[in-house]
Amino acid sequence: MKGNDILVIDLFSGPGGLGEGFASYQNNNEEYPFKIGMSVEKDPHAHMTLTTRAFYRLAKQKGCLDGYYQYLNSNLSRAKLFESYKGIYESAFQETLEGPSELGKDNDHIHARVKELTENHNGPKILIGGPPCQAYSLAGRSRNAGNKNYVPKEDHRHFLYKEYLKVLSIAKPDVFVMENVRGILTAKVENQLIFPQILNDLQNPSKITGSDSCPSYRIYSLVEKTDEADNSTPASLNYLIRFEEFGIPQARHRVILLGVREDIKQIPDILDKNIYPKVSVKEAIGDLPKLRSGLSKKADSYDSWQEVVSKNAETLSKLHNIGVDVNKTDLQPYEDLKRKETVHKNKSLNQLPDHLRKWILDPELNLVLNHETRGHMESDLLRYSFCALHGEQRRFSPKAENFPAELAPQHQNWNSGSYNDRFRVQVSTKAATTITSHISKDGHYFIHYDPKQCRSLTVREAARLQTFPDNYIFEGNRTNQYTQVGNAVPPFLARQISEIVFSLIKKHYSNL
Ligand SMILES: C[S@@+](CC[C@H](N)C(=O)[O-])C[C@H]1O[C@@H](n2cnc3c(N)ncnc32)[C@H](O)[C@@H]1O
Repeated sequence: MKGNDILVIDLFSGPGGLGEGFASYQNNNEEYPFKIGMSVEKDPHAHMTLTTRAFYRLAKQKGCLDGYYQYLNSNLSRAKLFESYKGIYESAFQETLEGPSELGKDNDHIHARVKELTENHNGPKILIGGPPCQAYSLAGRSRNAGNKNYVPKEDHRHFLYKEYLKVLSIAKPDVFVMENVRGILTAKVENQLIFPQILNDLQNPSKITGSDSCPSYRIYSLVEKTDEADNSTPASLNYLIRFEEFGIPQARHRVILLGVREDIKQIPDILDKNIYPKVSVKEAIGDLPKLRSGLSKKADSYDSWQEVVSKNAETLSKLHNIGVDVNKTDLQPYEDLKRKETVHKNKSLNQLPDHLRKWILDPELNLVLNHETRGHMESDLLRYSFCALHGEQRRFSPKAENFPAELAPQHQNWNSGSYNDRFRVQVSTKAATTITSHISKDGHYFIHYDPKQCRSLTVREAARLQTFPDNYIFEGNRTNQYTQVGNAVPPFLARQISEIVFSLIKKHYSNL
């Protein structure tokens, strides 16, 4: 690390979406000023993904990516890749702390590394990351509400941000970036909102950590303040970022806080809504190879799938008054579809807008990674087709009340309102809805817009909607991969934040 590099410490790193945005930022001299010094992640599969990506970055710097592409091509195993480029692998593995590490449990190891890195680096440093969100997330809270024995005060996940504070008070970074779910704004412990407390603690970390040498921080929002005169908008909403306004093909709404150390007098810019166009689902994923779904609970083959899809086309054509005109769309199954494709045949036909084309496509890569469908029940294939048709013709995903009785699942309370969003198609002309880690459980909220593919999104399609570059590989099995993608901060949004942080730091350190 050079003296004027900006050291990045990434906590709760997941697969590294936030870190990727920073590490990929290039200044006007085409240098990469942000260098990830350490990433802390407890999940072994996300940790593998982080290590592979750290390897990619270091190999790219050294101009030796051949082995990496051979690995992506399945011509080299991961173990052989690392063995062949031992020096690069060792640096990558060191960056990810030589293994999965848990904040709160492995603090001796983690804090020692934070001290070592920060004491040996005279240049600027930043802390990034978001303590996990399950306890704050609205879905998590409704699950907890059903658990009589759930006591928020005893849920350690409400307090993981204190682990962030501990590292903050050791590293004393120039700037920190903390991301979290919208639910953090309204979560309560003992009937008290927790967000004002978190803001307070982040401004004065020493009050919590007891370290009197820790400076205080000013906290900024990255978006324009909402109108103060509008009393219905709580001030906390000023921290909410609507990602679809910043060139991301997804209506993901997250809280992002930017902390600036007290001695740095500069004020950060905000994200600019006028730079990038809005991006639709089809523009983001339309060039990826078509695939068929698998059939679960039934012998799976193209022929049996084709039979089910043809039968479904017939069933749909016999339904009337279902809000869509089935005869308008040819529903005959595509010939010879596979469940997995690795060759990117239609890359040149992509409809990605300029900013994402440069960011996502890799001219050296003609492969599609992590693009394999999951299996679905036969009855769901019919519902997926209906939802996709509905999305195509009416431009919104059908609610329970829009479902023909023949297609309604056998839930007693199907029409009670609780199942309104049980199936959700990602409408091709709009931004996607939030890609969450729930995508690892079932695909019902993430139905592909093509009524003839009858399936949920693949990991790669979800990764595209999260703006991960196509050469970013997710390790672990398919469920692990979905979880990682759903957890991440979209790297392209993170890149926009990194630009704001760079400009602020540059103004403070005139020698950068
Ligand atoms: C919301 S994700 C982070 C996403 C990440 N910022 C990104 O952009 O890709 C939170 C991550 O924190 C990890 N995690 C949860 N508790 C942890 C702990 N105590 N120590 C380290 N990692 C933890 C989870 O495994 C999960 O991958």
